Amino acid sequence: MKGIVAFDSVFGNTMRVGEAIAEELRDQGHEVEVIDLGKWVPLRAEADFAFIGSPTRNGRMTSRSKRFVKRLRKSNWAARTVVMFDTVLRLPEKERYRERMIRWTENGAAPRLKALAEKRGLKVHPEVLRLEVTGIRGPLAPGSLDRAREFARETMKVIEGASSSH
Ligand SMILES: Cc1cc2nc3c(=O)[nH]c(=O)nc-3n(C[C@H](O)[C@H](O)[C@H](O)COP(=O)(O)O)c2cc1C
Repeated sequence: MKGIVAFDSVFGNTMRVGEAIAEELRDQGHEVEVIDLGKWVPLRAEADFAFIGSPTRNGRMTSRSKRFVKRLRKSNWAARTVVMFDTVLRLPEKERYRERMIRWTENGAAPRLKALAEKRGLKVHPEVLRLEVTGIRGPLAPGSLDRAREFARETMKVIEGASSSH
């Protein structure tokens, strides 16, 4: 299949996740176009599937990733799956701090991108991938890129299963 991996990233962490996803998809034999939304937000993007990622900043997605999802056309994406991923700051161990911070992570970039795409009538994968950074600028928590690859692998089984059944 032909796919898109599009991401926005300020410090490079979400980019690393996007690149790991793209690598896994290519290893599986898919043709993948990588789009760095920090450089360019295309007016049109069409493919058989797309993975879209953003860092969570101020409890939400970046404006570039939002714009990209707003530009996806129903003519292509009502029937072909989009999958959302994001990066979030790891919550502190202490209960009292966790409770304060959770509202800045829980409904962050990926859940919001998913809700936006659903509202627009696009076909959205029910699961989102959320990976943690251990500091504001990163790095990603250990094992994150393996998790990203595994998520891509498992998600493609669902997407390919759906596309071969009709
Ligand atoms: C201005 C700013 C606001 C942030 N706000 C949040 C936030 O609300 N919730 C959160 O989980 N992480 C927040 N973070 C941490 C980001 O999630 C982290 O920088 C990002 O995952 C790194 O990804 P990137 O390297 O792709 O930019 C914030 C970081 C910055 C610099």
